[in-house]
Amino acid sequence: MIDQYIDQIIQGDCLALLRALPDDSVDVAFADPPFNLKKKYNRLSDDLEFQEYLDWSRQWLAEMARVVKPTGSLFVHNIPKWLLYFSAFLNEIADFKHWIAWDAPTSPMGKSLQPAHYGILYYAKNRRKNKFYEIRYPHKRCRKCGYLHKDYGGKKGKLHPFGPLVSDVWMDIHRVKHNKYRDEHPCQLPIHLLERIILMSTDEGDIVLDPFSGTGTTAIAAKRLGRHYIGFELDPVYITSSKNKLAQEEPNSRIGRVWVSIFRDEIVTVRDKDWPELAPYFTIPDPIQRIDSTPITLSHGKVSREFSIDSLPLFNHKTKKQS
Ligand SMILES: C[S@@+](CC[C@H](N)C(=O)[O-])C[C@H]1O[C@@H](n2cnc3c(N)ncnc32)[C@H](O)[C@@H]1O
Repeated sequence: MIDQYIDQIIQGDCLALLRALPDDSVDVAFADPPFNLKKKYNRLSDDLEFQEYLDWSRQWLAEMARVVKPTGSLFVHNIPKWLLYFSAFLNEIADFKHWIAWDAPTSPMGKSLQPAHYGILYYAKNRRKNKFYEIRYPHKRCRKCGYLHKDYGGKKGKLHPFGPLVSDVWMDIHRVKHNKYRDEHPCQLPIHLLERIILMSTDEGDIVLDPFSGTGTTAIAAKRLGRHYIGFELDPVYITSSKNKLAQEEPNSRIGRVWVSIFRDEIVTVRDKDWPELAPYFTIPDPIQRIDSTPITLSHGKVSREFSIDSLPLFNHKTKKQS
């Protein structure tokens, strides 16, 4: 039954489409709904009454929880104001895991503190059965001198060569700003944000559902990482754009057999458990204490989606353009 939806972006109202999906049928559901902030979507009104927005949201949240497998996870991206209400509702039907603070400056809201993060609610359908993988991001370094930002003192020898485990505050992923990388959409998310979520919560071949697919960011991330996707989107213009982009993508964001997230020639997220298989592809400073001034590098050249690197013996990664 779920097979007919696999690897498709489907046009329609997500609530009706969600209701047609079987129980326990997808591994992860990620939702990035309109924030009710009067954004200029192509066709949609983003200006519901307060209670109307909450009542509508409760319906699709309940459907999302229903269709996720017992091993699966739900993610909901929004501003804190709405996530507080979403969370109160989700607590009744799923198990809270995290409030991820994604550090991304937003527009001033008048007489208030400057909002500087979006929230991503992270719920398990069932905490005891939930699939989860620890993930790592590269050490933060000074752009000019290349030294580590943090002074680890005598503990440098114990540093992980790739980088720290990811916490619930994400400061290393920035919003898509440059027009060159943007579609005509007011709130397109960065692909590597979704890749991080997918690496953390799914395995190869799993199904990732996005009921507010927009320009297909979640689907692209899933496809690049060898996962299946299902996207629902109301607006045909965004659907066409998603389909055109998806046609250019291959499931090839990996090094050897290991799926990784790549952004502008850098590996930006890996799974902790994959490191033993990834490490042989890197030149690691020896002794490891030298990591404060010397980053690890890929032994066979740089990673790039700009050109094929199939000719290099250890890599398996190619596409033309990355955003
Ligand atoms: C915040 S945007 C999602 C952006 C997306 N994450 C991306 O990176 O492109 C919300 C999207 O939901 C769509 N949408 C709004 N109401 C919907 C509904 N009832 N069913 C399906 N899609 C809907 C809008 O057209 C918009 O593209």
